[in-house]
Amino acid sequence: MMTVDSVVSDDRTLIDVDGLEVHFPIKRGIVVDRTVGYVYAVDGVSVRVHRGETYGLVGESGCGKSTLGKALLRLEQPTAGSIVFDGTDLAELKGEPLRRMRRRMQMVFQDSLSSLDPRQSVESLLVEGLRAHGLDHGREATATRLQELLSAVGLPASALRKYPHEFSGGQRQRIGIARALAVDPDLVVADEPVSALDVSVQAQVLNLLTDLQDEFGLTYLVIAHDLAVVRHIADRIGVMYLGGLVEETGADSLYAEPLHPYTRALLSAVPVPEPEVEDRREQILLSGDLPSPAEPPTGCRFHTRCPWRQPQRCDSERPELREVAPGHRVACHYAEDIRDGLIGP
Ligand SMILES: Nc1ncnc2c1ncn2[C@@H]1O[C@H](COP(=O)(O)OP(=O)(O)OP(=O)(O)O)[C@@H](O)[C@H]1O
Ligand code: SF4
Ligand SMILES: [Mg+2]
Repeated sequence: MMTVDSVVSDDRTLIDVDGLEVHFPIKRGIVVDRTVGYVYAVDGVSVRVHRGETYGLVGESGCGKSTLGKALLRLEQPTAGSIVFDGTDLAELKGEPLRRMRRRMQMVFQDSLSSLDPRQSVESLLVEGLRAHGLDHGREATATRLQELLSAVGLPASALRKYPHEFSGGQRQRIGIARALAVDPDLVVADEPVSALDVSVQAQVLNLLTDLQDEFGLTYLVIAHDLAVVRHIADRIGVMYLGGLVEETGADSLYAEPLHPYTRALLSAVPVPEPEVEDRREQILLSGDLPSPAEPPTGCRFHTRCPWRQPQRCDSERPELREVAPGHRVACHYAEDIRDGLIGP
């Protein structure tokens, strides 16, 4: 049988996530806390990220992107499923071994103003990370390391004595990136790294991420709600809807041939700069609101809004994420029929 890279775990896989669920209990009650339900933030995600690649994770607000990112770093406890990082099952690690493994996985957050302690100078923010992992090897070595980090992210040496509020948003994001890089990680989960920035500054920070990836051999999981942000930096893209992955393929392939109805709708909402193409652009309007992750629809989670929805099967059977073309996975019962135009919206 033919094996396909994205489906079979091999030594190119840095992180291998299988059947991951993160459910948050909804508590109610005055005297005794009763669990009255769950928010199914992440509900059955299987994904692999290869060494040295940039995996873009996109989807609407609340679909579970951040929860998934945090669960990978064990900042959120999974309800079910497994996460294997470089061959080690993270669930088996506790205490010191888990702490050591954490050094290898770092996170960059959207809002660097709230994720960086305002009372700490840049120097102390960076040294803190080094110390936490026993990487503070004396004054001189640390001073050299800090210079290297600042120069890698394009900040002057004088930045060390300043405080987060003294920088612009873009510069602050550079500090957040320097802090993640300080401990020499393998994987960086960047959660909406440029969402808070002006468009002109967004490109600079994205370019910086790309340069650093080449320089330090990093693997990225970049989270964004905006497809345009991941388009230029991601090698592969996964599209999330209500706690599940609905489509995954190479970045170019996603734009050239989106197969899941949800991805098609997302892409149809992105304006095209050429007027002739813009006129012909297929506009897919989704009916209904985004359902609550506490009460996800039965069957295909997208069936309440899907223009291609078919009777019975769509609202009773949850489609698996399956390979429809090499390296192209889609969670839709009718992906081929929709692609071949056999059923219309
Ligand atoms: N600690 C928590 N306790 C309860 N519910 C939570 C918790 N964290 C997240 N949620 C809920 O889980 C769902 C997914 O949230 P998450 O932050 O992962 O989404 P997201 O895709 O990152 O959204 P956004 O684009 O707005 O950042 C949301 O409904 C959110 O309210
Ligand atoms: S399985 Fe049905 S409802 Fe779900 S995306 Fe496909 S056609 Fe639409
Ligand atoms: Mg988020």
